[in-house]
Amino acid sequence: MNWWQTGIIYQIYPRSFQDSDADGVGDLNGVIGRLDYLKALHIDAIWISPIYPSPMHDFGYDVADYCDIHPLFGTLADFDRLLAEAHSRGLKVILDLVPNHTSEEHSWFTESRSSRDNPKRDYYLWRDPAPGDGPPETRLPNNWQTHFGGDAWTYDAATGQFYMHQFHRSQPELNYRHPEVLPAMLDNMRFWLDRGVDGFRVDVIWLMLKDEQFRDEPANPHAAADARPFDRIQHIYTAGVEGIHDLIRQMRAVLDEYDERMMVGEIYLPVEQLVTYYGDGDECHMPFNFQLINLPWNARVIGDYIRQYEGALPTGGWPNWVLGNHDQHRIATRVRKETEFPGRNSVSGDPARLAQMLLLTLRGTPTCYYGDEIGMEDVPIPLEQCMDPAALQQPELFEVWGRDPERTPMQWDASPNAGFTAPEATPWLPLAADYRARNVAAQADDPASMLNFFRALTELRRAEPALNRGDYHDVDFGIDDVLAYWRTTPGSDWYLVVLNLGGASHLIDLARLGIAEAQMMLSTDPARVTPGIATAFSLAANEGVILRLPGSSDTDTQDGYP
Ligand code: NOJ
Ligand code: MG
Repeated sequence: MNWWQTGIIYQIYPRSFQDSDADGVGDLNGVIGRLDYLKALHIDAIWISPIYPSPMHDFGYDVADYCDIHPLFGTLADFDRLLAEAHSRGLKVILDLVPNHTSEEHSWFTESRSSRDNPKRDYYLWRDPAPGDGPPETRLPNNWQTHFGGDAWTYDAATGQFYMHQFHRSQPELNYRHPEVLPAMLDNMRFWLDRGVDGFRVDVIWLMLKDEQFRDEPANPHAAADARPFDRIQHIYTAGVEGIHDLIRQMRAVLDEYDERMMVGEIYLPVEQLVTYYGDGDECHMPFNFQLINLPWNARVIGDYIRQYEGALPTGGWPNWVLGNHDQHRIATRVRKETEFPGRNSVSGDPARLAQMLLLTLRGTPTCYYGDEIGMEDVPIPLEQCMDPAALQQPELFEVWGRDPERTPMQWDASPNAGFTAPEATPWLPLAADYRARNVAAQADDPASMLNFFRALTELRRAEPALNRGDYHDVDFGIDDVLAYWRTTPGSDWYLVVLNLGGASHLIDLARLGIAEAQMMLSTDPARVTPGIATAFSLAANEGVILRLPGSSDTDTQDGYP
């Protein structure tokens, strides 16, 4: 097994993790100062969102130079130090690779846009205005739309053509049908792999190729009447376009030139299509599995999805799970809202703990989002303070689309600015109003805290082969709100995970599984006395427990065992 299979990935949004120079924006030296904290979380790898030079129109996902560090974050020397310090603690470092588009400030684009006959012109997707009478800037080449709202084409008056972008207009998309573009991007990957980077999270990897004929996308018959233009068309010519798998295989081949490096692809697709991005073990090591983010917080629905996903994985395809990232509302906010959890600072019955127990006990690599370990919530940001280009472009969808709320500064302590930046500095996004109560320092001292619960979970996961590499078997207690499963591996203790996603307590009787007793290892509720021997017990609303069944190797034929 590889580190990226048995390990836990932790995503750092670098602007918001730790500032070291009082400019209100997090940086690499800040991360270095927190490596011991990360180590103590029992995580195995950090994925850092983009740290490259960038005009920051999309906060770094608009890259102006793939082979350098933005001065806001530090220098290449700082990066090398971060890598060495992380590696000396046994932590891997995954960078964010953004190959689909560059910033308009990347030298490839400034050359490309300089004239129609510049040698780099066709590094990007340039099209003439459609035939017609109106002014050229109104004659769009086709009906493609951006994810951020608006047409996917921006007119460049100097050369009289449009360039294509599926995100912000400052993020022109590269043309991977040009023979020089992929080799150039592969060299950018080698630049970091040679420095010792352990892998890449690849931004929108399934969007990298576009229809060669630039055809209009067909109407989406399932779109709601008030759907935004992007959702009214089916993205068959801008996503998952034929040839994409071949392109990904070539990226993978570069990783395979090195030892133990990995690539996890950002892909939002239904499960049957998602799993094709494993290829024959020659594409993504893992395509991110985001479905838990979209599914309702419902035990039956989630249980069905786990089965569906497990069933769809190709031979050798290693699963993975995600509950949040810098593009999605915080999981704690979502589940506390969905379960109408009243006491935001009460620990008993907090569904945010249950969500972490789910993430950290499923089969496959978990990716945790910074701050979720202390139960950070979305921070309401008024429209006047909004930074996110996706929300600014669609103010009518601001509530749904705004991504600032999940990107706010990490809450380290109760001091002014929460220890994120100097007390006199202004953090780039406001801090949560409750940071004085919810922060790392306060929780570190409290045995019942979410942080200590998270550490107990990650410690158990790391210690137990059944949890970090074992098989998954579902268990049906016949209770709608209860999601339960075995994690087993021959020759090691087996684990039973029982999660109550509902608002009422339920009696869990292990006799139903043909088991006399098991050892209670961990509960989401610190009030439950653990460890102890369990036979039948009451599982409270929003409570989850992990039980151990010792000595599995000689009992694997016993009734009730998977
Ligand atoms: C996905 C990234 O996660 C998101 O933050 C970004 O805006 C788009 N890709 C464009 O790079
Ligand atoms: Mg800084």
